[in-house]
Amino acid sequence: MSQPMTLDRIRKDPSLRTLIDAANQHLAAQGFTDHGPRHARFVSHFAKEILCCLGYPEREVELAAIAGYVHDIGNSISRVNHGVSGACMLFPLLLQMDMPMTDVLVIVTAVGNHDEDIGVITSPITAALVIADKADASRSRVRNGTPEPGDIHDRVNFAIEHNRLTVDSERRVIQHQLEMDSSSSIMEYLTIYMQRIAMCERAARFLGCTFDLSINSHAING
Ligand SMILES: [Fe+2]
Ligand SMILES: [Fe+2]
Repeated sequence: MSQPMTLDRIRKDPSLRTLIDAANQHLAAQGFTDHGPRHARFVSHFAKEILCCLGYPEREVELAAIAGYVHDIGNSISRVNHGVSGACMLFPLLLQMDMPMTDVLVIVTAVGNHDEDIGVITSPITAALVIADKADASRSRVRNGTPEPGDIHDRVNFAIEHNRLTVDSERRVIQHQLEMDSSSSIMEYLTIYMQRIAMCERAARFLGCTFDLSINSHAING
């Protein structure tokens, strides 16, 4: 008999832990920012928060937390199409863990569509995962605590001192507030995040909300 899967059980699973670490190492070797357990916890927490604040049922909130935690394991194979490869890897793993097929499908659809290059938002869990994932930009993602000379991703992340994601359920606004220091610029942020901001706007719209980004108290969109 299938048991409801919880984030707690997912976090304790040795195979998933190994995959998250392997994905992080594969990206570290290519110079990408942190994609390890810290990123998994961040995305899991905020995917859950978004649906919780908007009043979604408890089970959907928990599935969003699970999807957020495992969303990047496909990077253990390749960065290219890592959402789809991660979904294919999760399918047998989650079934082996006795997760009901209906829940497995919800998770793999969200994971398989979280990447801005090919992702399509067709469920609240996908929408919450996308916003939580794209909102994780901060100094703590830069490896070695210092930006590589000339690397715009490290430079932008290093400049972000404060990162706040909040949900106003009354006004139906998902607000992302960033504070950057002068080691990068809003222009550089937009250069690498424009496609992701557009995807967050689509995700928020799916949830019946707007996505409002502000940087250093300047309204960027909306
Ligand atoms: Fe990803
Ligand atoms: Fe991610």
